[in-house]
Amino acid sequence: MTGPPRVTKAVIPAAGLGTRFLPATKASPKEMLPVVDQPAIQYVVEEAVRAGLDDVLMITGRNKRPLEDHFDRVVELEHQLEAKGDAAKLALVQEASELATIHYVRQGDPKGLGHAVLAAAQHVGQEPFAVLLGDDLIDARDPLLELMIEVQAREGGSVVALMEVPHEAISLYGCAAVEAVDGGAGGDVVRITGLVEKPPVDEAPSDLAVIGRYVLSPTVFDVLRTTPPGRGGEIQLTDAIETLIATEPVHGVVFRGRRYDTGDRLDYLKAVVQLAADREDLGPPLVAWLSEWLAARA
Ligand code: G1P
Repeated sequence: MTGPPRVTKAVIPAAGLGTRFLPATKASPKEMLPVVDQPAIQYVVEEAVRAGLDDVLMITGRNKRPLEDHFDRVVELEHQLEAKGDAAKLALVQEASELATIHYVRQGDPKGLGHAVLAAAQHVGQEPFAVLLGDDLIDARDPLLELMIEVQAREGGSVVALMEVPHEAISLYGCAAVEAVDGGAGGDVVRITGLVEKPPVDEAPSDLAVIGRYVLSPTVFDVLRTTPPGRGGEIQLTDAIETLIATEPVHGVVFRGRRYDTGDRLDYLKAVVQLAADREDLGPPLVAWLSEWLAARA
């Protein structure tokens, strides 16, 4: 007997224009902004691979060539490093091209996150699949996607990652109304009864924000085909999942680990400092310098 289809594919929308980071993103994609010494997008692909998903589809658009180049081989550079005997740098260069099988499809018109995900329909087919948004980085030490895939295998339907945020911040996110389920791992698994994209603070049904990780049933594609533009005039993934609730189970996994937001400038700077501070090679000297520098400013 064959069981329900397994999640094997990850979809990474990367067609956004990155206007919050202009002029840095005028000629190069925001996904290539370095977080310490690695482009943001590589953390996301690594996360998918850690969760067992090594078939990755990136939804791209114009100006996204550097993404394809980053995950491709650079034979001349590899030869040069080999000739120099620089094995450490060679490994770093090769790492990105050996991580996963990466496919690319262009979104065409950027009509919103839901529209971007719909561009994955043909590649994904009839299996549940994961969606990872590049602006949210999840710390490699705090598993989330693995847990979501387990919940999807057990409950079917779709699973959305949620995180409690300060009440005033909820209007920056998709927001979930939830109810408890029996046996949810320490209360971290909930049933989602409603979803609303970026509600005004006083209309938000909870402080549980949708963070950028989803494991979705392929029926979401049928729904997306008829989902009208929502908040901001864009076709919203949140609205399509809200529609799914009527016909399929939709669960939330409440994440309590470390998440870094690289989608806005201040949060991006915080992410770089936090991740560098945790690194063995850079952390100790960086933290020592930061403390001295802050003391000198006080
Ligand atoms: C998107 C989603 C939103 C979600 C957020 C997480 O919004 O539409 O529901 O909460 O990602 O980062 P964006 O930040 O792209 O505007």
